[in-house]
Amino acid sequence: QEQQLSNGVRRRRRRVVLFSLPFQGHLNPTLKLAALLHAGGLAVTVLHTDFNAPDPARHHPELTFVPIHETPLPDAAVSPDSDILAKLLALNAACAAPFRDALASLLLCSGGHDDVACAVVDGQCYAAMRAAGELGVPVLALRTDSAAALRNMLAIPRLRDAGYCLPIKEERLDEPVPGLEPLRVRDLIRVDGCDAGELCSFVASVAGAVGAWVSGVVLNTFEAIEEPELAALRRELSLPAFAVGPLHMLFRRAPAPAEQGPHAPDRSCLAWLDARPPRSVLYVSLGSLACVGRGVFEEMAWGLAGSGVPFLWVVRPGFVTGAGASDGEEAPPPLPDGFEEEIKDRGKIVRWAPQREVLAHEAIGTFWTHCGWNSTLESVCEGVPMLVQPCFADQMVTARYVTHEWGVGMAVGEVVERGRVAQAVKKVMAGGDGAQMRERARHLKMQASDATGSAMDGLVQYIMSL
Ligand code: UDX
Repeated sequence: QEQQLSNGVRRRRRRVVLFSLPFQGHLNPTLKLAALLHAGGLAVTVLHTDFNAPDPARHHPELTFVPIHETPLPDAAVSPDSDILAKLLALNAACAAPFRDALASLLLCSGGHDDVACAVVDGQCYAAMRAAGELGVPVLALRTDSAAALRNMLAIPRLRDAGYCLPIKEERLDEPVPGLEPLRVRDLIRVDGCDAGELCSFVASVAGAVGAWVSGVVLNTFEAIEEPELAALRRELSLPAFAVGPLHMLFRRAPAPAEQGPHAPDRSCLAWLDARPPRSVLYVSLGSLACVGRGVFEEMAWGLAGSGVPFLWVVRPGFVTGAGASDGEEAPPPLPDGFEEEIKDRGKIVRWAPQREVLAHEAIGTFWTHCGWNSTLESVCEGVPMLVQPCFADQMVTARYVTHEWGVGMAVGEVVERGRVAQAVKKVMAGGDGAQMRERARHLKMQASDATGSAMDGLVQYIMSL
């Protein structure tokens, strides 16, 4: 592929190879970055797993998609019942050799190292970072979480040695964590039910790969929201860190790729929202991975019913552990008995929503979220305040920033109980605190719109220099 320069000279585009782990929340920012790098003058190849493969027809024709043909993935990698750490470990193991083979044959078929400027790989995929590095390809790590979450992750071995990691005594949970303020012990990255030693060894693999092979870090965040965290990260890593986000806002030179989702979005919810007054509806979604037990699900449902507030709730198949699949089909979990009769038209329930359009709708007043980083950025960019219920990993960190650093949200509470839920929902949707959060959210929205894309230009120049 060639590129015409402003002086009329044609030159071969240098190529970037991207690879993401097959999670919704990782694939979407990776595909957006791919489109932006192409618009910046680079040729782009996206290597991907067969599992959750992106649909090239729905994305940019100018991007090249190549499957890596991993062997069938073990249950631990795909089952909704396995935790995120088990998934990450299994995916790293399954992708290592196929990724290496696919990259090696790409180097053979293309102009080799002269053609391939670098690989931009998922910042949780130490196996791909190592494989690319061993093949002599410069590596950039793409983080789909926040700078604060990455700092927390890299600090885990130090925190463990200093006695800050869970399990820890109840009375120490509110202690601030030195070097990671405003985080308290209870806000640190954790995956309930998984072994602290396993988490440490995963982090050590990521940190080891970053230290050995990585020439820079790319983050879907922006300076105005995480300036001190980015400055600290650059010092700690001694690597360039490009804050190129919010990626979904930056499509001035290229059309945005279609969102990749596990289910078709149910667009009927937009017409339902059209019939509601401005800022009257609570949008509830815990992302694409988080699951809850039947008890928490029922408390959420009856809390929503008891609040009296209109709501749009994403209840996807597999959202409730141990429920859902029936007759071999992916069915959403059954709602509590009597719930639909109770809420009537005050609540709308969908399997999957067109989330970005929902958050941009004027009827939305607040977003009850798990604080996945994509959802948080999408909420910030629409100026929508949040009710937070973090479930695992980086979501704990982000929830603390939403509530205490940026002041644009409040917590549902560690114990999800119908009475407390109803109270929290009423409070966040009412004036007073709710109005103040909305005002601060509006300010963050303006800062997000000002993120100009100059970091993206810097990233493209850096890639050209590799
Ligand atoms: C995961 C982790 O949870 C998250 O913390 C990490 O930073 C990225 O990977 P996920 O749990 O899916 O992602 O949450 P999130 O990052 O919020 O991504 C969910 C995406 O799905 C968002 O872009 C959201 O717009 C989209 N979505 C969700 C829909 O389009 N429709 C829905 O109904 C629900």
